[in-house]
Amino acid sequence: MSRKLIAGNWKMNGGLAANEALVRSMLDGLSGPACGIALCAPAPYLSQLQGLLQGSPIDWGAQDVSAHEQGAFTGEVSAAMLRDFGCRYAIVGHSERRQYHGETDETVAAKAQRALAAGITPIVCVGETLQQREAGETEMVVKRQLAAVIHTVGHCISEIVVAYEPVWAIGTGKTATPEQAQQVHAVLRAQLAAATTNPKRVHILYGGSMNAANAASLLAQADIDGGLIGGASLKAPDFLQIIAACA
Ligand code: PGA
Repeated sequence: MSRKLIAGNWKMNGGLAANEALVRSMLDGLSGPACGIALCAPAPYLSQLQGLLQGSPIDWGAQDVSAHEQGAFTGEVSAAMLRDFGCRYAIVGHSERRQYHGETDETVAAKAQRALAAGITPIVCVGETLQQREAGETEMVVKRQLAAVIHTVGHCISEIVVAYEPVWAIGTGKTATPEQAQQVHAVLRAQLAAATTNPKRVHILYGGSMNAANAASLLAQADIDGGLIGGASLKAPDFLQIIAACA
C-alpha cells in the first residue's frame, strides 16, 4: 500500500475568512507529511482552495459531483467543471446525500463514473445505519453499495477511493472500534480483490468520528488506509494530529 490518505470533509461549513485562517494554520503546522492530504470544501470555495493550496502538499476536492455530463440540470456542478479548476477528488455517495437527497446506489455509481471520466478520483462512501448493523446486515449493505460502483466503472475500480463510514458513527462521537472497522474493511478489500488484480492500490478510508485521540489505533489496522474526517477537519490542531498519526 502506498502512503495513507487523510481527507477532510468540511460539509456545509466555512466562509472566506474562516477557510483562509484554517488552511493557513494547517499549512503552517505541516512538516513533511507522511501521508496524502486532501480538503473537500463546499463548491463556492473550491477556487479559493485552489489558490491557497497551490504548490502545497494538500490536494483539494468537491463534496459531490453531478451524475450528468452537462445541460439542463439547474444547480448541478459537472465533473468537467471541477476539473477545469484542477480538482483532484470528489466525495460521492456520502450518507448525508443518500439520506437527505435520495441518492441511490445507481446514482452514486454514475457520479463515480463521471468523476473518473474527467480525471477526478471519486471517494465513494459506503456504510450501514444502526438499524442495519443491529439486524446483522452490515456486510450485505456495504457490499451492495460497492457492487453498484464496480458494476458501473468496471476495470477503473482500481482508480477509486472507498470510504467506509458507518452512519451511526458520523458526527455522533461514537466511533467504530478498530476491530469493527477492520472487519468491514477486510470485506471491502476482498470484494475489490474479486474485481481488480490490484486491490491494494485502492485506499479504503475509515470515517465516522475519527479524531486526534482515536486516529492512531484505527490507522494501525491492516486494511485502514486513511481517514475521511468531518468535525475534526474544521480544527487545524486536531486535523494535524490525525495527519501525524500516519507517520
Ligand atoms: P465526522 O464526519 O468525522 O464528523 O463523524 C465524517 C464524515 O461524515 O465524512
